[in-house]
Amino acid sequence: MCGIVAYTGSNEAYPILIKGLKRLEYRGYDSAGVALSQGNKIGLYKCRGRVADLDLFCSDKDIKACAGIAHTRWATHGEPNTQNAHPHLSEDGKIALIHNGIVENYLVLKKELMSRGYKFQSNTDTEVLVHLIQDIFVKEQVPLEEAVRIALGGVVGTYALAILSADNPGQIILAKKGSPLLIGIGDNEYYVGSDGAPIVEYTKKVVYLEDGDVAVVAPQKKLVIRNINDNAKKRPYWQKLEMNLEQLEKDGFEHYMLKEIFEQPKAIRDSMRGRLNVQKDVVSLGGIIEYETKMMNARRFIIVACGTSYHAGLVAEYLFENIARIPVEVEYASEFRYRNPLIYEDDVIIAISQSGETADTIAAVELAKRKGATVIGICNVVGSTLARATNAGSYTHAGPEIGVASTKAFTAQVTVLTLMALSIARKKGTLALSEYHQIIGCLEDIPEKVNEILQLDDIIKDISTHFVNKRNAIYLGRGVNYPVALEGALKLKEISYIHAEGYPSAEMKHGPIALIDEEMPVIVLATEQETYEKTVSNIQEVIARKGRIISIVTKGDTLVKEMSNYCIEIPATTELLTPLISCIPLQLLAYHVAVLRGCNVDKPRNLAKSVSVE
Ligand code: M6R
Repeated sequence: MCGIVAYTGSNEAYPILIKGLKRLEYRGYDSAGVALSQGNKIGLYKCRGRVADLDLFCSDKDIKACAGIAHTRWATHGEPNTQNAHPHLSEDGKIALIHNGIVENYLVLKKELMSRGYKFQSNTDTEVLVHLIQDIFVKEQVPLEEAVRIALGGVVGTYALAILSADNPGQIILAKKGSPLLIGIGDNEYYVGSDGAPIVEYTKKVVYLEDGDVAVVAPQKKLVIRNINDNAKKRPYWQKLEMNLEQLEKDGFEHYMLKEIFEQPKAIRDSMRGRLNVQKDVVSLGGIIEYETKMMNARRFIIVACGTSYHAGLVAEYLFENIARIPVEVEYASEFRYRNPLIYEDDVIIAISQSGETADTIAAVELAKRKGATVIGICNVVGSTLARATNAGSYTHAGPEIGVASTKAFTAQVTVLTLMALSIARKKGTLALSEYHQIIGCLEDIPEKVNEILQLDDIIKDISTHFVNKRNAIYLGRGVNYPVALEGALKLKEISYIHAEGYPSAEMKHGPIALIDEEMPVIVLATEQETYEKTVSNIQEVIARKGRIISIVTKGDTLVKEMSNYCIEIPATTELLTPLISCIPLQLLAYHVAVLRGCNVDKPRNLAKSVSVE
């Protein structure tokens, strides 16, 4: 949800800012802009569209500067146009500001500022911040950072801010509450980013700002961090940035999404690495060791997440209930946080998030903590807000996921959740050693099986040609394959814009069956399962209404294969682990359909990778 980059030092700022914005474009791509510190003036360049459009727009402009702030926007308040693009300027043109987050009380603040004569250039919530800061700066005659601190005291909402001032060339003021912001230190220079991607090329020494921090960076000067509320000075805590530049490249693939789909064997292996000791019959997730007893004795697990991570949570419900015999509730974080849920101190909340920045998931975690529950996080981005907000947790180690559609993060999440369930089940004694060995054996084989499915890419590409002109699709699955059906439908709709819905196969006859006709593709997960026969009946029901069947079956299946218009065979595994492989053909199918339809696969319309606003 909006990407922020800033630089101050002795190098040319513009190339660093533009490169940084390109790396953060997955966070939003409605408009982009840059403000440069040029002598005692601020040079402001912004436009609707992508970072490449901004770069083109700037190609004949004076962009020489050693400090600047830059922004790529995912629109919340105000349509995506140049006027609403960040940075926003104060009326005297001396302060430029960029923002990621939402100012919830912006209407009240705007009214007040307008009554005092301030004129607004945009429809954004952000613009109130720059006028408010200028107002305090002029009236109170305090340093700009102090004006920022005072202003933020009256702001309700979330923000990551970077502010540039014409009076203080080279100085950048930063502030954070609820949206991520980190500072990298180079050779007498500072790099700032919403995540590590714009920074990693230059330095690995970073400080993650915390909620309530206001920081000031200037070349040759020490980083100063103060608290918004009491102005107390804070010692910066420098950490190593866990990210490699190579992970941010496309590596010869046409899209990040395809690269990430093909990275899954490695991502799954990495998420298991060092956690499985087969000889000693131990699964050990270092991050949660201290909390395992609490987890074993939990009254119930409540899993909170959004989107694809929510689907991983639904898979986990089967895992924890089946093998660890712990009751599980899976909730959309956005619903959970607002429905005054019953949360007990002996509940364990598991929050799942690839980015670790999803606003609703973080809010659900904060709520659970206030109620005294133990909160465990599962996330991919090291050092993210979720990782820091939870009592304990496990990283998925899938590597940076840049495509907006989540793929490898899902399989890595399911892998970690499987390890968690196995570890707790063994300690609780709810899983016989023989079954434990059988599941572990299958888990170790998963990366190779994923590899095998990836070899079917051409066949799946071929099948996708039959989807290009479809307007709807239905995905069906039972048991552990039900969340996979939801995930398959989400993948298709978000990147190809074909309307798709996932249902538990048996629910179809309670309504959705009315949609079936010869135009409707029905993708059925019909792998070897306890409920296989029931699935066969559900397929018959679709065929009787002339629906087109695309089935995912276990290798060697003949029954469903013969009933299907198209069939994708995947290797066998133990039922509980099926989602780890049955999701792969659905990811590829969605990918190829979207490419054939000419959609921007990595940056689908209206979306952003990290949804850090409500
Ligand atoms: O970073 P998170 O896992 O918390 O993100 C949650 C959703 O926004 C995310 O999974 C979204 O649904 C993806 N675009 C799905 O592909």
